[in-house]
Amino acid sequence: NGDGVGDLKGITSRLDYLADLGVDVVWLSPVYKSPQDDNGYDISDYQDIDPLFGTLEDMDELLAEAHKRGLKIVMDLVVNHTSDEHAWFQASRDKDDPHADWYWWRPARPGHEPGTPGAEPNQWGSYFGGSAWQYDPKRGEYYLHQFSRKQPDLNWENPEVRKAVYKMMNWWMDRGIDGFRMDVITLISKRLDGHGRLPGEIDSELSEGEMGEEGYTDASPFCSDGPRLDEFLAEMRREVFEGREGYMNVGEAPGITPARNEHVTDPKNGELDMLFLFDHVGIDQEGSKWNTVPFEVKNLRARLADQQEAVKNAGWASLFFCNHDQPRVVSRWGDDADRESRELSAKAFGMLLHMHRGTPYIYEGEELGMTNAHFTTLEQYRDLESINAYRQRVEEAKCQSAESMMAALALIGRDNARTPMQWDASRYAGFTAPDAATEPWIGVNPNHVEINAAEEFDDPGSVYSFYKKLIAMR
Ligand code: GLC
Repeated sequence: NGDGVGDLKGITSRLDYLADLGVDVVWLSPVYKSPQDDNGYDISDYQDIDPLFGTLEDMDELLAEAHKRGLKIVMDLVVNHTSDEHAWFQASRDKDDPHADWYWWRPARPGHEPGTPGAEPNQWGSYFGGSAWQYDPKRGEYYLHQFSRKQPDLNWENPEVRKAVYKMMNWWMDRGIDGFRMDVITLISKRLDGHGRLPGEIDSELSEGEMGEEGYTDASPFCSDGPRLDEFLAEMRREVFEGREGYMNVGEAPGITPARNEHVTDPKNGELDMLFLFDHVGIDQEGSKWNTVPFEVKNLRARLADQQEAVKNAGWASLFFCNHDQPRVVSRWGDDADRESRELSAKAFGMLLHMHRGTPYIYEGEELGMTNAHFTTLEQYRDLESINAYRQRVEEAKCQSAESMMAALALIGRDNARTPMQWDASRYAGFTAPDAATEPWIGVNPNHVEINAAEEFDDPGSVYSFYKKLIAMR
């Protein structure tokens, strides 16, 4: 609609392109109502579309038009956390409200004044910088947020929370969607200490793990693949998917091992169809995401082999190099320096992706060989993870130099994948009209004049045509 942000009608208008490429399912990142602290992964109303992206009617139209072309639509399901602006969270701030226990509320550390530095219940850091605990003066307690402070974690131990989530999922399935991509679904079950407490809450100091370079400990050993994960997923399967046909679901699974993937995706256990594993996209990082190390083919080969080996008897794999959180593979592990190297790298990774056993996932523009953004200033970035990480590491903890942090952002920052889809060589790459008053929300990659769908569509030697052949072969 010319406001510089992608929308549902825009996607509907491009369905023929997707059908031509040969994809059969489209996963949409979250389009629900959201304050957009984390590009929609902070949802304030699960049963509405954010006006930025359109309306529920636009969603119905997208579904109908997709189905007409034999395409399915999978929505993102973000239920490890909500937005702090969600009505459930607002109600939960009152200790006497029925929603009081829907989130992970905890008092200040014993002997500390609530809301003062160091009074957090434990020393866990959040993925997006700073403590994983935020003080709420209204309730006089802290809430857990593994991501930003505007993304409070839901308490899945509470059966009312689970019931409300399943109800919402059924509402969408009944509306005609074809399944869900489940955001950080392995984080919904957390490891409690036997007294219903999260580890490290009561004892002071370092009981919850080793101190990291940013001044926090790592929550993930206690907050991923917890003891009730299988139970929750099987319950979800029964409550939402049993009796339905022709749907698919895939869980984003940080912290899960290839061996556990076999269990979760083995149909006889009635949990999920597929998981996204992350060990292979972590091979160029050590300790912190921002401490990048050189890519080695042998490490990628070993990780992919482990993933394949684990599901050779039962279960199923999903295959990916790119998504909205990962940089562009052609720049990350390939060579985007000149046209020939770029095209060969893009095709090599496309081949690798499609020739393994499992379901391949292509991220928008990957089929064109789209590259990293090559941003050079912090002002060009929009992602809160990147911006917070810079502040935390360069300015606060001073554990990384500005120069090395900018290099890390340019290599693996999430915005590398989020620049506008390159449809053609026009001013805004066809993402928005060239004469539109508003520029796209994030910079268009200048290389769109060379790398774009219009250019590649009819060229039998293009990356696009290569992907099309691979998909047809599958
Ligand atoms: C997942 C999403 C990512 C988001 C995070 C928090 O990792 O893919 O984009 O920031 O969860 O919801």
